[in-house]
Formats: sequence, structure tokens, C-alpha cells
Amino acid sequence: MTGSSRRYRMKTRVVAESHAGTDWEPDVVPPLHMTSTFRFRDSDHGADIFAGRRDGYVYTRIGNPTLDRLHAKLADLEGAEDAASTASGMAAVASVALTLARPGDNLVACSTLYGGTYALFHHHLRQFDIEARFIAPREAGDADRLKALVDDRTRFLYMETPANPTLDIVDISLWASVAEKRDIPLVVDNTFSTPCLQLPLAQGARLAVHSATKYLGGHADLIGGIVAGEKNLIDRIRTETLHHFGPVLSPFNAWLILRGVKTLDVRMQRHCENAATLAVRLEGHPKVKRVYYPGLPAHPGHAVASRQMRGYGGMLAFELKGGTAAGKASMDAVQLCTLAVSLGECATLIQHPASMTHSTYSPAERRAAGIADGLVRLSVGIEDVEDIWEDLDRALAAVP
Ligand SMILES: Cc1ncc(COP(=O)(O)O)c(C=O)c1O
Repeated sequence: MTGSSRRYRMKTRVVAESHAGTDWEPDVVPPLHMTSTFRFRDSDHGADIFAGRRDGYVYTRIGNPTLDRLHAKLADLEGAEDAASTASGMAAVASVALTLARPGDNLVACSTLYGGTYALFHHHLRQFDIEARFIAPREAGDADRLKALVDDRTRFLYMETPANPTLDIVDISLWASVAEKRDIPLVVDNTFSTPCLQLPLAQGARLAVHSATKYLGGHADLIGGIVAGEKNLIDRIRTETLHHFGPVLSPFNAWLILRGVKTLDVRMQRHCENAATLAVRLEGHPKVKRVYYPGLPAHPGHAVASRQMRGYGGMLAFELKGGTAAGKASMDAVQLCTLAVSLGECATLIQHPASMTHSTYSPAERRAAGIADGLVRLSVGIEDVEDIWEDLDRALAAVP
């Protein structure tokens, strides 16, 4: 289900990326600069760095060599001019919004989003008098409907693709053309795909954001975020928001992400293969009503996903014929899969969006975003796929 020659190029790039953006470094593993502050040689040296007359580190909220290694690596992987890191994926999303929009401005987003992002946009940006306008995923491919939501106070367009939790696919180049005509940035949350499977900037987006907590870290042992894109925008995010609001990443978490990214490509290959196998088997299961996976030809976004992605990812969702009760029963019956939120870790995680990650939506808002109450979301891990299937098959057999 993946274009092997294009993937091979990416793989080479990921393996080679440990040198990205840096001169030759003697260390094989990046050093961990676990320090909050940096020593100056004398008072003029410190004053010169503060005044920008010479380069140097002063304080880890402003800059740190381990963080810089991570930024260079992620910028290279996303094909970006620059990248910044944040304390969480939400800090990345919030920093983008608070940098680009001012009181009286608005943003336009596809309504299927991670529940935390939806809550930030829909509820919390209001206190800054920033309005979020949403377009339903079934209308997101209609450029005229999208254009109708954009006005002179729209400061950016925002999407997740594939979207959490329904795996809806939004056409990046279509939205990028609408954004470009208005001279505003398109921001794409690339968490589900990672740069191994999708390069939003190459398709017209100007910023890509990540919850690095997920696939980039890959081992469910850290919280972090990334913003990659045009240098002038990243500079603004740093100086207008990160330096003063302060949601920066710990160097230790940056070091863990750097380690995680070394295996990103092989992990993503296995996530994709396992998810594709499970999607097909679930689709054929008599208790399953519908499977949401962009790699399935029946998925409404399959054609666009095939154009803009190199693989369909490791996330899938399904609804059972018995609705919410059956879905919950299946989650309670699994043994190998872990009942937990989050995603992108090595082990398979299962959860119920309506009562967990997407409980920030009202029932009506969930319906408008196409998030069925009975939906079960699976972050397919890199275990032996037969072990995962055996567990799911047994759990489905236990559903009344
Ligand atoms: C697609 C997506 N974006 C952003 C976030 C927020 O990331 P974090 O939990 O690292 O703050 C999440 C979290 O689940 C997510 O799934």
C-alpha cells in the first residue's frame, strides 16, 4: 500500500538525518545539555550575546544546543526552513494560534480535530477575542464553502489530515490554494502521518505542527511538540510567544525525541503494514459495521490520501453493529491491546473517543464532525500483527 521507491528515498533521508542542519559533530549520540543557564566568559561576552552582537546560549528557555539539534533535524525531515519545539503538542498549537491571531481575528479549521485542539479553538481562544470557524469534513473538499468562511480578519487555516479520530482526509493543496490567495498560512497538524508519510510544506502548507508525544517520540515516555515551517513564522513564534509565554521543551525530552526519530521510518512502515492488515480483517468481520482507514478503497478520502501521503498510517477506527455498548464491551475484553488514550507508541492502544479524547465536543458537535458515539479508535502498534488480531478477534467474539 506504499510507493516503495519514494519511501526508500525518505528512509535514506531519515537514516542520514542525524547530521541534519549541523556541521560535522564528533558524537554519535547527541549530547544532552541538561542545564538551565550558560556561563559567560566575562561581562562583555554576556552583554554581547544579549545584544545579539555575537552568537551564544544564555538560558534554556531562549535556546539550548540539544534543542537546536532537534530543531535542525525536524526542519530537515519536514523540508522546512526552521523548526521550534514546545512543551507539548497543545503548546505547539496554542503558540501558533497566539502568534498568528490577535483580538478580533479568526481562524478557519476543519471541525474534526483532536479534542484538546477543538476545545482550545472553540472555547479558550474566545477569551482573547479570537473566533474559530469550522467546516465539516464532508464539506472540506468544497473550495467555495471554504472560501465563504474566510474574510479579511482570517489569520490562518488549520487542519488535521488524517484527522483524529475519524481518519478523515483533507486536501492539503486545495486548502493551500485558498490560503495563498488570501496570503495567510495553512497550518497542518502532521501528527498522524509524520514526515515519513506526508510532507505538508511541499504541498503548500506554511507550518506543520506535531504532538511529538506520539510517533516522533514513539515510546509513550514523553510529552512534546514541534512547529516546522517558514523561518519568518518560526522566528515570530519564538520571539512573540515561546520566549515570553514560556511553554518550551525540556532538553531531556528533546534528547528522547532525537532518539525516537532514529527509528521513525522503520516503526512507521510496521505501523502502516499492521494497520492495513487489521483494517481489511475488521472490514470483513460480521460484527463490524464500518472501518475508518484511509488505505481502504471504500474510505471517502482514499484517492486524496493516495495522492498526498506515502502510506496510510497506523491509526484506524471502527464501529460495531451493536453500537456504543458493543464498542465498550470490545474495549473491556482486550488483553494484549492497552485501554489508554494517546497514540503512536510501539504497543497497540485502544480507546473510546466520545467518552475520552473527544468528550470536549458536545454530542451535537461530535455528530457535525462525523464522530459516531460508538466509534472505537485503535493506535495500531508494531507487535506481531497476528498477536494483535488474535486479541481483537477474541474481544469481538466476547461482544454480546
Ligand atoms: C492530532 C493531535 N494533535 C495534537 C495533540 C496534542 O498533543 P499533546 O498531547 O502532546 O499536547 C494530540 C494529542 O492527542 C493529537 O492527537
